[in-house]
Amino acid sequence: MKKILLLTSILACAVFANPYAKCAGCHGADGEKVALGKSKVIKDMTKAEIVAAMKGYKDGSYGGPMKGLMKGQAVSLSDADIQAIADQIGK
Ligand code: HEC
Repeated sequence: MKKILLLTSILACAVFANPYAKCAGCHGADGEKVALGKSKVIKDMTKAEIVAAMKGYKDGSYGGPMKGLMKGQAVSLSDADIQAIADQIGK
């Protein structure tokens, strides 16, 4: 029974959680902040630029001095999560 409850809550999180929620602490609720004084203001990026940046962080082909940090953020995101984030934040 416990296992079933646990599974249900994990599934519920996966379906209903906003994938951008964990990014807001650094990038701001609407992507309006310069994260840790280093990043671009991501709400000024286009949706396509955000998708390209996130996929680049995942495969190591994009980023500045702190790209290791963003790789940690990006690896667990699916392409669908990345698209949802870009649709929410990008221009
Ligand atoms: C701990 C703080 C932190 C968190 C959490 C975080 N970021 Fe970042 N983000 C940064 C920093 C710092 C950079 C600049 C990294 C670099 O040097 O390339 C950055 C860069 C970016 C960029 C590219 C902007 C640029 O400067 O080229 C995008 C897009 C981005 N983050 C999206 C996200 C998304 C989406 C999430 C959540 C899944 C997230 N970030 C979570 C700190 C954070």
